[in-house]
Amino acid sequence: MHTPPLDDARSSPVTPVTPDDRAPIAVWDLPTRVFHWALATAFAGAFLTAEWDGGRKVHVLFGLTMVGLIVFRIVWGFVGTRYARFRSFVFPPGRVASYLRSILARAPEHHVGHNPGAAAAIFLMLGLGLVTAASGLATYREVGGEWLEEAHETAAFGLLALVVVHVAGVLLSSFQHRENLVRSMFTGVKLGRAGEGIAGGRVGIGLALLFAVLGFWSAGGTGALDVGALAGPKAAGRAGEKAGEKDAAGSGQTREHGENEGPDDNHDDDEGPDDDD
Ligand code: HEM
Ligand code: HEM
Repeated sequence: MHTPPLDDARSSPVTPVTPDDRAPIAVWDLPTRVFHWALATAFAGAFLTAEWDGGRKVHVLFGLTMVGLIVFRIVWGFVGTRYARFRSFVFPPGRVASYLRSILARAPEHHVGHNPGAAAAIFLMLGLGLVTAASGLATYREVGGEWLEEAHETAAFGLLALVVVHVAGVLLSSFQHRENLVRSMFTGVKLGRAGEGIAGGRVGIGLALLFAVLGFWSAGGTGALDVGALAGPKAAGRAGEKAGEKDAAGSGQTREHGENEGPDDNHDDDEGPDDDD
């Protein structure tokens, strides 16, 4: 099924493909796919647990997972396979505008890797993901005032808005190009020029990333890993107490923050999910 390998040295900006060129080729390596679905899961997990009193640790676990995954993706953007590399989807603003115009004219350019519209959303999501997590950590550690809490919530909802636009864009492109892009993020296969597929799926690194994420979740979930300590041992409990105040039953929050004062105060562990890579 896979076409002959393409040397990653040719990872120049990807040019549009015409319908006649199209053949199924391997485009997304396994680390990119694992990254994507783990990020989407962690995002959903962080969002859904944000207001769960007594579940702050789960919220932080998912938030830290996002940090680790995004740090991994930034590294992978330089050393990954052709279509995962940033230089294959950094487009000047003019190209983004002309791509969006081509969509409106119902004659969309087809790109093998990320199209200019998707690329813009991707960089914004990665950046806002980091801002959301950083403001969440700052809130947790109480290094700022109320405004940080507000900033965290605003960043989180901004990210949600971007995700909605992202998913809408994916569905629209899938429809316009008659290509199931969601499936391609699972299989790694897209329509492109024969001979321009990637050489290998980097399966070992993809599996290592998958097990790192699952291991992090299971260690955090079972308590084998002190998530509170990872997020910041200096937290005195105000953020948790405030959450507790919203609901009289939220006393578990304060206890969780107490546990933050554990012996493990290595902040660098925030990048735990990526340690294997
Ligand atoms: C059900 C929900 C989602 C679906 C169906 C979906 C689908 C996709 C698809 C098909 C692509 C490839 C786009 C292309 O062909 O150019 C993609 C890329 C991407 N998506 Fe999503 N996505 C979802 C949720 C999310 C969420 C929640 C986030 C972030 C919080 C996210 C972040 C990204 C990023 C960063 C990429 C770039 C992948 C890479 O190159 O590493 N997605 N998504
Ligand atoms: C390391 C990562 C993170 C940490 C340490 C963290 C920490 C916190 C803390 C302490 C609060 C409570 C603020 C308060 O007292 O009201 C909070 C609230 C919130 N967080 Fe996070 N967070 C993180 C990541 C995220 C992410 C990635 C998202 C979104 C996907 C998110 C979404 C929210 C939302 C929406 C709230 C507001 C909940 C409410 O209305 O009370 N957080 N977070």
